[in-house]
Amino acid sequence: MFTSRIKKMTPSATIEITSKIAELKKSGVEIIAFNVGEPDFDTPKNIREKAKEGLDLGHTRYTPASGTIELREEIAKKLYKDNNLKYTYKEIIVSNGAKQSIMNALFVLCEEGDEVIIPSPYWVSYIEMVKLTGAKPVMVELEEKDNFNLNVEKIKKSITSKTKCVMLNSPNNPTGAIYSENQLREIGNICVKNDIFILADEIYEKLIYDGEKHISIGTLSEEIKEKTILINGVSKTYAMTGWRIGYAAGPENIVKAMTDIQGHMTTGPNAPAQYASIEALRNTEEAVEAMVVEFDKRRKYIVDRLNSIEGISCNLPKGAFYSMPNVKSFYGKSFGNYKIENSMDITNYLLEEARIAVAPGEAFGINNNIRIAYSNSMKNIKEGMDQMEEALKKLK
Ligand SMILES: Cc1ncc(COP(=O)(O)O)c(C=O)c1O
Repeated sequence: MFTSRIKKMTPSATIEITSKIAELKKSGVEIIAFNVGEPDFDTPKNIREKAKEGLDLGHTRYTPASGTIELREEIAKKLYKDNNLKYTYKEIIVSNGAKQSIMNALFVLCEEGDEVIIPSPYWVSYIEMVKLTGAKPVMVELEEKDNFNLNVEKIKKSITSKTKCVMLNSPNNPTGAIYSENQLREIGNICVKNDIFILADEIYEKLIYDGEKHISIGTLSEEIKEKTILINGVSKTYAMTGWRIGYAAGPENIVKAMTDIQGHMTTGPNAPAQYASIEALRNTEEAVEAMVVEFDKRRKYIVDRLNSIEGISCNLPKGAFYSMPNVKSFYGKSFGNYKIENSMDITNYLLEEARIAVAPGEAFGINNNIRIAYSNSMKNIKEGMDQMEEALKKLK
């Protein structure tokens, strides 16, 4: 009955966890959630106030399919100010979250017979999105010992005549890696030479630590910019995940085709949220700085705590809000009815025995690790780590 497109789709490995969390919560068990990919902060007050103002001013109707000109012009200003990239509003589309911008771009660029290179570990949705277009995701494994940094040589070797696109996500979900200027330049030049598009997902650009610098690949040459579709949005930076505003910037003909798709699928995104997003881009620097300071404290604390647990090793992530502890040493161990063989088993064990929810590495293409988001209060992180340590000690 269903299409091959749907049959090929792998259900999210995190769905099983989510329904287990719901069941445990229903039976009165308190779970500390480290599995979600969103900031725990409230959306800053000035943005919330703007949304209310927008409603009162009548920003309640359809907007152009690619978003209001006002918001697209504000995004163009932001891209120039923060990223040193020149785009006009016609080269920008606002979508229902960055997710829709990525899907639009893939629908425009890829089809049956094409290949899309995805560095692994990867954000879960990339693979399924590529598969929806009919194209084939080609994963390039990055090494934990290199801090999951981009391996340009490996990417080069995976290019074939069918390669249509490379998906780059820096700062990275789930690894926290930040790609260097040299790596990006090399990849960019390879893509230009081989006529390959670059999907540069920069959604975590402002969540970076230790004085690291975020580089937009499109700044490295005009030729690279012409092959790049930049993806960004307000979800992570401004704690606005539920507002569903993301955007893409790229060559006008590609953005126009993305707009055609979006126009038929969903039309322009939520009007009051677009109005409030102008405020987010304009007047929220201090609030973002405060969030980064808090994330940084939690990052250092959680990585220290993880590394102090016997059997765990954890790299210090440079960006985003995820840690990726290696838990392989527990595979083959057991406690009671639990036998741990893989990242899903340990995720289930931690959920039931430590009352913490994490995400299994296998959902991101890596089995030796789990992903723990530190977008949770310091109090919860401390308690969660205590509970995790105690539960892991029982495994023999
Ligand atoms: C790497 C990456 N890109 C894109 C998104 C989607 O963000 P949005 O909420 O704007 O759809 C996420 C959300 O988890 C993400 O981690």
